[in-house]
Amino acid sequence: MNPNPLSGHNALVTGAAQGIGRAIALKLAELGARVAVNDLSESGGKETVRLIEEKKGKAVFAGFSVSDYQAAQDAIKGLGKEWGALQILVNNAGITRDQVLPRMKMEDWNEVIAVNLTGAFNCCRGASRLMVKNHYGRIIVISSVVAFLGQAGQTNYAASKAGLIGLTRSLALELAPYQVTVNAVAPGLIETPMTKALPEAHLQKILARIPAGRMGKPEEVAELVGFLALPGSGYITGQALHLNGGLYLG
Ligand SMILES: NC(=O)c1ccc[n+]([C@@H]2O[C@H](COP(=O)([O-])OP(=O)(O)OC[C@H]3O[C@@H](n4cnc5c(N)ncnc54)[C@H](O)[C@@H]3O)[C@@H](O)[C@H]2O)c1
Repeated sequence: MNPNPLSGHNALVTGAAQGIGRAIALKLAELGARVAVNDLSESGGKETVRLIEEKKGKAVFAGFSVSDYQAAQDAIKGLGKEWGALQILVNNAGITRDQVLPRMKMEDWNEVIAVNLTGAFNCCRGASRLMVKNHYGRIIVISSVVAFLGQAGQTNYAASKAGLIGLTRSLALELAPYQVTVNAVAPGLIETPMTKALPEAHLQKILARIPAGRMGKPEEVAELVGFLALPGSGYITGQALHLNGGLYLG
């Protein structure tokens, strides 16, 4: 088996300063890809770059907010110019601003949609133009189990994550003729700084509903993303793949 099946491939992973994004960036680099590590956090992003380089991988930091349309177009165009091609895009950057809907502030709704959903549009727009030109690409979108189950207190987040499923399916249809696949991964409860912020009682309640009896690991999400990014995964498109220890079966 080729230990570097992504050798010669260039990837952009958004929100890769920590958590799931960092694990994905490390996985793609381990598979041989050169990785642009995007995040708002320069220190965290550069630490991901350092961790990749420590393992003899190739990475650069790409600091921009995914919710900034022009910044995303410029950064992706720049990567295309410098690298010649962008074969892999992972839309991972995401935020929560939890509140029950009657008490939710307009800013909390708008911010979550801007980062989680519009952020994916912004990056897909820039990247898909490069991929169509090259007649090759792998776009992977990080959705969530709450897009399917719903979650009280997360109408904004669940709406953004469900929106990503519609985006994934429609973009998959548009790009299939160009050998560009578009798939979503819908993780359940994963051990990251995002879930560390959950109140213990709430965490225990969700854990009690997970047949596997544990949270998932960022590396387990990265494993699936790495698989979808492979050249050999070219006939899988428009799918939402579930990764949740049995919490939701599809
Ligand atoms: N942790 C879970 O249980 C879980 C479950 C399902 C889905 N997800 C999704 O997986 C993704 C990663 O989650 P995580 O748990 O690692 O979160 P995290 O909060 O640990 O990391 C998210 C990263 O995104 C970055 N980010 C935020 N806004 C950004 C912006 N505008 N531009 C660029 N980067 C930005 C943050 O700085 C951070 O480094 C998110 O989309 C999240 O919704 C997480």
